[in-house]
Amino acid sequence: MPIEVINLNHSYKEGTPFKQQVLFDINLSIDDGEFIGIIGPTRSGKTTLAQHFNALHIPRRGKVIVDGLDTADKQTDLVSIRHRVGYVFQNPDYQLFAPTVSEDIAFGPTNQNLPGNEIKERVQEAMTQVGLDKTLSTRDIFALSGGQKRRTAIAGVLACRPKVLVLDDVTAGLDPRGREEIMSVIHELHRKQRITILFISNSMDEVASLAERIIVVDRGKIIMDDATRKVFARFEELRSIGLELPEITVLMDKLRSAGFDLPAGILNVNEALSSIIAALRKMEVRK
Ligand SMILES: Nc1ncnc2c1ncn2[C@@H]1O[C@H](COP(=O)(O)OP(=O)(O)O)[C@@H](O)[C@H]1O
Ligand SMILES: [Mg+2]
Repeated sequence: MPIEVINLNHSYKEGTPFKQQVLFDINLSIDDGEFIGIIGPTRSGKTTLAQHFNALHIPRRGKVIVDGLDTADKQTDLVSIRHRVGYVFQNPDYQLFAPTVSEDIAFGPTNQNLPGNEIKERVQEAMTQVGLDKTLSTRDIFALSGGQKRRTAIAGVLACRPKVLVLDDVTAGLDPRGREEIMSVIHELHRKQRITILFISNSMDEVASLAERIIVVDRGKIIMDDATRKVFARFEELRSIGLELPEITVLMDKLRSAGFDLPAGILNVNEALSSIIAALRKMEVRK
C-alpha cells in the first residue's frame, strides 16, 4: 500500500503570531513491503511528518496520498486510513488507556465493529506476534514493564491488521535487552508478513541493522533518502547534525581508550561481544 507525499509543508499555530513552520517541501514515496528508517535529531520534524501518514495531521499545503486516497479529501474515510496505517506513539502512556492488556489490544478491532470471536482471535494473534505471554492478558497495564507496555501498544495497532506500521521512537528509554526484544519483534513482522515498516529513531544503530532505506530529516527538511549503506557512508555529516552515536559504539570506544585491543566502529551488541571475547583470548595468550 503505497504512500506518496508531495510538496508537504506544515506549520504549528498557523494564523497566530506564534506560527512555526516545521516541515518544508517534503517529497517522498513509500512502496509496499519497505523497511525504512526515518532518522533525525530531536525536534527535526519526524513525528510531525509521520503523523501525516495516518491522517493524524491533514496537509494544508501539499498532499499526502495513502493507497490512492488523498487524506485532505473530504470524501476520504480517515478511520480506514488509520487502520491501514498503524501508528505506535513514542510514549506508550499516550496509547494505552484500557485497564488490562487484552482490553487495550481489543480497542481497535472493537471500534471496527468486528464480531466478538474475531476480536478475541485478533487479540491473541497480536499478543503472539509481539511475544506477549497469554498469562499477561488480564494484567493491569500499570503493572507492566516498559518493554511489555511497548509491546502491548504495538499489539493494539497490529490487531487492526495494518499494512503499514509507523513506529515512532518506540525503543526510547528501554534498556539494551528491551530494545533488542522490540527490534526482533519488528524484524519478524517485516520478514514474515511483509508489513511495511516506517521506523523512526534518533539512534543510528537501531536503523542500521534492519532498514533497507534511510530518510534523514533535519530542521524540517529531508536531507538524505537512500539505501542504508549509502546513508551511513556519510557518517560525519550525520554526526554533524547531532545524531547520537550508538551507545555500544561509545562504550566500546571507552574500553578501547582504556587499553583494550578492540576494533573501531562497532555497531551492535553481537559484534561487541565477539570482539571482547577475542580481545580477552589475546590477553590470555600473552600471559
Ligand atoms: N503540537 C505541537 N504544537 C506546537 N509545536 C509543536 C507541536 N508538536 C511539535 N511541535 C514543534 O515542531 C517541531 C518538530 O517536532 P517533532 O515533529 O515532534 O520532531 P521530532 O519528532 O523529530 O522530535 C519542534 O520544534 C516542536 O517543538
Ligand atoms: Mg518525535
